[in-house]
Amino acid sequence: MNIAIVGATGLVGREIINLCEEFLPKDTIYTLFASSKSAGKKLKVKGKDYEVKELAEDNIESYDISLFSAGGERSKNFAEIFTSKGSYVIDNSSAFRMEKEVPLVVFGINENTISQETKLISNPNCTTMGLVMALKPLHDKYNLLNIVPVAYQAVSGSGSEAVSSLIEEESLGEKLDSDYEKGFYDRPIARNVIPLAGNLTENGYSDEEMKFVNESRKILNIPELIVEPSNARVGVKTGHGIFCSATFEEATDVQEAIGLIDSFDGVEYWKDKLPTPLDAEGNKKVLVGRMRNGLSDNRILNFWAVSDNLLKGAAFNAVQIARYIVDND
Ligand SMILES: NC(=O)c1ccc[n+]([C@@H]2O[C@H](COP(=O)([O-])OP(=O)(O)OC[C@H]3O[C@@H](n4cnc5c(N)ncnc54)[C@H](OP(=O)(O)O)[C@@H]3O)[C@@H](O)[C@H]2O)c1
Repeated sequence: MNIAIVGATGLVGREIINLCEEFLPKDTIYTLFASSKSAGKKLKVKGKDYEVKELAEDNIESYDISLFSAGGERSKNFAEIFTSKGSYVIDNSSAFRMEKEVPLVVFGINENTISQETKLISNPNCTTMGLVMALKPLHDKYNLLNIVPVAYQAVSGSGSEAVSSLIEEESLGEKLDSDYEKGFYDRPIARNVIPLAGNLTENGYSDEEMKFVNESRKILNIPELIVEPSNARVGVKTGHGIFCSATFEEATDVQEAIGLIDSFDGVEYWKDKLPTPLDAEGNKKVLVGRMRNGLSDNRILNFWAVSDNLLKGAAFNAVQIARYIVDND
C-alpha cells in the first residue's frame, strides 16, 4: 500500500504520521510532501527515515490514499491531480467540504457515504467534529431540532505558527498586556479570550461559526437544523471545548442521555471529574460532561464537550477514514 501525506511537517501532518504507524498496514510505503522550505528534511515513519518532497506536479506519483493537511489552497490546486492518478484523497481543509458530491465524513457517524465513486473525501472542521460526535447518539433517540453551541477554540487549531506565538506571549508573563500587537492573532491570546474565532463574514458571523451551521447539517443529515453559534479563541494550546444547548423534538432524560453518550463509540461521559482541554489533549475520544436538562423545557439538554482538535478533530478522523478505505475498498 502506498500512502502520501501532504503537509507532513505541520501539526496535523505529524499526528497523521504517528497514527499511520498505529492504524495502517505494516508494509505501507509513505511519501511525505510539504513546501519547498521543508524539501529534503528527514521525518521518521515507523522508525524509518523518509525525505520530505516539495509538493510539485512533477513529484506526484500514484498512491492508494493521500492525506492532505497543507491548507485549502494546496488542496484546491493538487487534490484533483492526486485523484486523477487513482488515489483517494482525504482532505483536512475546508476547500471541498460543502460540495454536494464530496462526502463530509466523521468516522463513527457517516463513513457509509464513502464509495469507490467518492475518491475525494472531506474531513470536517475540528470544532464541529467534536460536537456532532456528542450529538449523534442524542439525535438518534430524541430527534434534534436546534443547537446553540458556544465554542472555546484552542490555538493549535490555527497551526504551528499560532502555537509558536502563544509560547512567545506566555514567556512574557506579566509584561504581556492588551496592547501587544506582535502575536499571531489581532489581539494577544496568552492569558486571554478573544471573542471571535476565524474571520468575520458578511452576515456578522465568523467563518468558524458558519462551519458549525453548514457542516453539522451535512454530517447529521438534518438540512433544516437551526444553529446559533458563537466561537471564541482562548489561550489554550490544544483541545476545543464547546458548551451546547440542544433542543429535541422528544422529551429527554439526563440519565438516559448520559447512557446514550457513554455507549456511543468514540465518546465518553465524565461523571466524577470535569473534562478540560488538558484532559482531551492526546485523547482520541470526545469527552462530555455537565449534562443538564433545560431550565425551561425537558426537550432541552445543556452539556459540555471537549476534544483534541488535532486528533478526532483532524488527524485521527482522517486516519480512521483511511483505515475504513483499506478495509472496504
Ligand atoms: N490544526 C488543527 O487543529 C486543524 C484541524 C482540522 C483541520 N486543519 C487543517 O489542516 C491543515 C493543516 O493545519 P496545521 O494545523 O497542521 O497547519 P501547520 O502546522 O501550519 O502546517 C501546515 C502544513 O502545510 C504545509 N504547507 C504550507 N504551505 C505549503 C505549500 N505551498 N506547499 C506544500 N505544503 C505547504 C506546511 O509545510 P512547511 O512546514 O514546509 O511549511 C506544513 O506541513 C489546514 O488546512 C487546516 O485548516 C487543522
